[in-house]
Amino acid sequence: MMQKTARARANIALAKYWGKSDVALNLPAVPSLSLTLEPLTTTTTVTFTADLRTDSLLINGKITTGDALARASKLLARVRERAGVPLFAHVESKNEFPTASGLASSASGFAALACAASAAAGLPFSPRELSMLARASSASAARSIYPGFVALPAGKEGDSSLQAEMLFDENHWDVCMIVAVNAEGAKAIGSTSGMERSRTTSPYYNAWLAAAPSYFNEVLAGVAARDLARVGTTMEESTFAMHACAMASSPSVSYLQPATLSALETVRRLRKTESLGVYATMDAGPHVKALCLQRDADRVERGLRETPGVLRTLRAVPGRGVEVLA
Ligand code: PMV
Repeated sequence: MMQKTARARANIALAKYWGKSDVALNLPAVPSLSLTLEPLTTTTTVTFTADLRTDSLLINGKITTGDALARASKLLARVRERAGVPLFAHVESKNEFPTASGLASSASGFAALACAASAAAGLPFSPRELSMLARASSASAARSIYPGFVALPAGKEGDSSLQAEMLFDENHWDVCMIVAVNAEGAKAIGSTSGMERSRTTSPYYNAWLAAAPSYFNEVLAGVAARDLARVGTTMEESTFAMHACAMASSPSVSYLQPATLSALETVRRLRKTESLGVYATMDAGPHVKALCLQRDADRVERGLRETPGVLRTLRAVPGRGVEVLA
């Protein structure tokens, strides 16, 4: 039976990726640096079988068609071609966190899919090749192949070999990411169309491209030195620059909701009045993710949970890379 199961974890960028240098090859225009997170996992089983006339996809028990299936099929087609396997596949995927709401489910989803599909097709893929394969579907997924702190360089137009690399593994630093979940369900604008609209219409896009490499370098130096204030301050600058660029698009690409602003205010208050080392980041969705040391996690989580509009919180720590389960 050509069936394998793989598990991957979500990652949150400390220095953000936003914008593509090559849309067809899905190459990021800026370098990004992320943290892979336990236990925000996606578990995916791929079965290649002669019984199917087309690929099929089940996400959290729901038959999924349309764009999500088309994107999964594209990845499966690459694996079929390389492995010389002429069979369609059934994909069954489960997320342990909200899907498509800016919680990086595409990152763990495509990382798990790349790994499970390659293993099921019998391809002896290295992490580098898996990262390349996942990156072609979702650039952030290239980072979820690896544990801990991971870099994805900017891509040069036409260079399809771009992949992520691990900088420090999950044991490097006792940090914690507390996610304030501010809405359930899918986001209004997917990251791909949000970043394309930013590239083609935002007057701040070039300013974002110019600033992003220095955010990356500063976060990298801060992570290497385990300097939370340095990482956190720059992480916030990277987030706000990315969202400012997106918001200035026409029509505006805005992911913030009232609860987002309330949670940001909580992070600021905890830092100012309680002297906690805690910093915020946001992705293509309304949630706020707060970075702190594990010893402060209870106080940060309590503060966010008591914030009006915050539905619930998730707590995550540096996690492992993708793995084949069976
Ligand atoms: O690769 P995508 O389409 O999941 O884009 C991710 C974009 C952000 O989450 C907003 C930033 C990032 O670097 O993860």
